[in-house]
Amino acid sequence: MDDEASSFGRELLAGLARRPRSISPKFFYDVAGSRLFDAICELPEYYPTRTELSILAERAGEIAQQIGPHAEIIEFGAGSLHKVRFLLDALKAPRRFVPIDISGEHLAQAAQALRADYPGLDVQPLVADYTKPFSLPREAEGSGPRVGFFPGSTLGNFSPDEALAFLQGAARALRGGGLLIGVDLVKDPAMLHAAYNDARGVTARFNLNLLVRANAELGADFDLAGFSHSAFYNAPHQRIEMHLVSRAAQTVNLLGQSLHFAEAEAIHTEYSHKFTVEGLRTLAARAGFGIGPVWTDRERLFSVHWLPAAQ
Ligand code: AVI
Repeated sequence: MDDEASSFGRELLAGLARRPRSISPKFFYDVAGSRLFDAICELPEYYPTRTELSILAERAGEIAQQIGPHAEIIEFGAGSLHKVRFLLDALKAPRRFVPIDISGEHLAQAAQALRADYPGLDVQPLVADYTKPFSLPREAEGSGPRVGFFPGSTLGNFSPDEALAFLQGAARALRGGGLLIGVDLVKDPAMLHAAYNDARGVTARFNLNLLVRANAELGADFDLAGFSHSAFYNAPHQRIEMHLVSRAAQTVNLLGQSLHFAEAEAIHTEYSHKFTVEGLRTLAARAGFGIGPVWTDRERLFSVHWLPAAQ
């Protein structure tokens, strides 16, 4: 078993021993899970990706004005580096781009494609887990403000404590610059429900892929037909919760342990918090950011915030 599989195994056993049982959403994103997530982003019901892209496309000029010239952009959880292109196209002489992601191979490929399209830009990918402390490369000679870019409402997948800790770390790292962050907004629960229970069942496959992974990488014997996808809006906590629910009483063997599941027992797999504009601003202010402009789409489905970080 390689290092990655053994950390998955350790965390999975620990999470399944907890009550309620849980698995961290970071384990969704193996190669198959990343492909399924890309497919989710294209679904008619999943509005966040296309809505955020439309805000970035329409408001890139205003955003660039807030940021100013010669910026150094640091993207957290960079993925395919598609969204940052809107920013790079609008910014005046951006100096350097540091995409940070845990998956080195994917990052290197995406960085190579970006270098080809932006020959004047210094692209320095950093393989790191941005939810843990990490050090940034020293500021380049003559560079302007340091700007964090955190799109996709990934902040919503953190617990409230993790979100505050992430923003506090970002406010320190980005002193004198700021953070451009995209977060999904509170809305009609029916629309949220549809986005996480799509008609084609792609989100269900994304959720169940955790068990596919456990079987393939850890030799577990989860019966894939024995668990069902569940996603619902928890209004008091303003979040979608995803779970895998055992359809019957059953026993699963995992790394030498027999785990008993009662009928209807759930494994929690993800939170996806939704925000109000005021709620995000209050959280950002608690973390040490100032308050800048916010851009939303006409239907107020999604928001992109500029949060200046004090000197
Ligand atoms: C990556 N993240 C912001 C997505 C979300 O909407 O919370 C992950 C996702 N889970 C189910 N569908 C999409």
